Amino acid sequence: MEKHLLNFLKSFQPETSHFLTIQLLKYFAFTINQKKDDPMLSTSIAGLKINNPIGLAAGFDKNAEVINAMSRIGFGFIECGTTTIKPQYGNPKPRIFRLEEDNALINRLGFNNKGIDNFLSNFKKRKQENAIAGINIGPNKDSDNFIKDYITLFEKTYSDGDYITINLSSPNTEGLREIQKIDSLNTLTNELKIIKDSKEYKKNIFLKIDPDSTERDYDDIINIAYKNNIDGLIISNTSTERPSNLTSRFCLESGGLSGKPLRDKSNDVLRLIAAKTKGEILLIGVGGISNAKDVYQKIKLGASAVQLYTALTFEGSKLIENIKRDLVKFLKQDNFKNIEQAVCSEIKN
Ligand SMILES: Cc1cc2nc3c(=O)[nH]c(=O)nc-3n(C[C@H](O)[C@H](O)[C@H](O)COP(=O)(O)O)c2cc1C
Repeated sequence: MEKHLLNFLKSFQPETSHFLTIQLLKYFAFTINQKKDDPMLSTSIAGLKINNPIGLAAGFDKNAEVINAMSRIGFGFIECGTTTIKPQYGNPKPRIFRLEEDNALINRLGFNNKGIDNFLSNFKKRKQENAIAGINIGPNKDSDNFIKDYITLFEKTYSDGDYITINLSSPNTEGLREIQKIDSLNTLTNELKIIKDSKEYKKNIFLKIDPDSTERDYDDIINIAYKNNIDGLIISNTSTERPSNLTSRFCLESGGLSGKPLRDKSNDVLRLIAAKTKGEILLIGVGGISNAKDVYQKIKLGASAVQLYTALTFEGSKLIENIKRDLVKFLKQDNFKNIEQAVCSEIKN
């Protein structure tokens, strides 16, 4: 049944197919049969307990419409957004391209979303007991002060999100990645720290970074993360680079590349940062996951949890249960009692 539905959805342009998927999930979530997770997969991200380490990456549920459905599908945590202060149309269509032969997508959506007020009214409807859900925030394209946008959004979302992700790395908003540079990142994260210090309840702040920077840039990000008490790094967003082995006719479209061809590149950054931080900061690995082996690799490299998006559009929701089933097998084969024991195991050995 699901296979037919998936093929039907894939017969549309990617953005139409995504819109239809969100509608189906919104209205038919109750038909999804939620399974219990194996206790071996239970873990935590910066103190937040999750039933399994597979998260939904930002961008799928930009307006927080399907948190409960995605939780029923089996994700251990769900990151909604990127949301901006004002509603925003984004770039002209077409702006998502399916690279079928490469198991990849290129998108240049440009933070199309309905704005923070709509987002929060949806987000508040989630069933707390169901899902750990984070809020990913970014500036409006026409904002004259990106840092101010982040601060405003941080204040607005602080009490609702289980964690807040500062998206510094979408390639589709001009100038956004500049915020990853030392001076602006220091200013921004220092302001976030001051706000957090003034609150009674402490929420986690994660930075989502790109896979295209230099080692020096990553050193700066790590140092600032330590200095301003950032709780975790999400590695990584999509890439602006194009590996030479892509074969799809859309491979030279501009935008961010995700899916299989991103995997090794984002793993290289994860490996580098894990070696430098040695477990002192939470790492979440994202990029090119399409099976349990890919998840296990990121975990062994140092990720405490992972996220995925692109493979879901190719494989459908069954992918999540399959990944979890195989992940348990891998853990048992390697004599790990639980997923936490496997984190960083490749680096420790
Ligand atoms: C269509 C599309 C839209 C995305 N939108 C966002 C976004 O709004 N914010 C964000 O932080 N990442 C966004 N991403 C990036 C994903 O969260 C993820 O970092 C990236 O796709 C790599 O994971 P994957 O290979 O499993 O897709 C988007 C990705 C895709 C494919």
